[in-house]
Amino acid sequence: MRKKMVAGNWKMNKTLQEGVALAAELKQTVVNPACEVVIGTPFIHLATVAEMLKGTPVHVAAENCADKESGAFTGEVSAAMVRSTGAEYCILGHSERRQYYNETPEILKEKVRLALANGLKPIFCIGEVKEEREAGIQNEVVRQQLEGSVFDLTAEEFAQLTLAYEPVWAIGTGLTATPAQAQEMHAYIRSLVRARYGERTADDTTILYGGSCNEKNAAELFANPDVDGGLIGGASLVAEKFMAIINAR
Ligand code: PGA
Repeated sequence: MRKKMVAGNWKMNKTLQEGVALAAELKQTVVNPACEVVIGTPFIHLATVAEMLKGTPVHVAAENCADKESGAFTGEVSAAMVRSTGAEYCILGHSERRQYYNETPEILKEKVRLALANGLKPIFCIGEVKEEREAGIQNEVVRQQLEGSVFDLTAEEFAQLTLAYEPVWAIGTGLTATPAQAQEMHAYIRSLVRARYGERTADDTTILYGGSCNEKNAAELFANPDVDGGLIGGASLVAEKFMAIINAR
């Protein structure tokens, strides 16, 4: 059976001290979760937070990694460096990275390859913008995002991935996809995985919903058969809210 998961994405929030304080709260409160719990933190938090949470049910993710192996790329952080902190996951393909940092499908393909080669499990984000949904082409957009960056992987490599469907119009806007919209898209994504990798892999692929998922709407979203958990931005910055979402899973 596929893993259920609730993953936080702190984005560019929290100083090191604030992040350590939040991780300490989670360490105390996340005891026997019914799902895999992951927190995505800025690079500078990773080593400290991964060390703090070692042996606990809270796993750690980077929010990005470089598309180059190593060398003269000032300011970049490689997948090997991320892995060396003790982080196990790496969020890739987030719409903010695609939009503000011009991450193309080709760049993301390389990042996914390097993350996997260095023992990181990618949480790969896909999703359409508002105009694309209004034009009714959301399925096509999501299909191209998968084909452009991850459908060249072998079945073994693909099995390391978690997918996150994040409609861009729902991220940080308070506009959540309805449970029916989420289920419809998740079922479509799973059908694409089935067509590419077969029934078994499709059944085993964890697909998260992200986009204004919070402690109030999480249970309703997670009740759908193809919604295996959530990727949580804003509500992951407050321990009680994040805990309530974990408990809704
Ligand atoms: P949000 O962000 O929960 O603040 O909408 C979700 C995300 O970007 O992963």
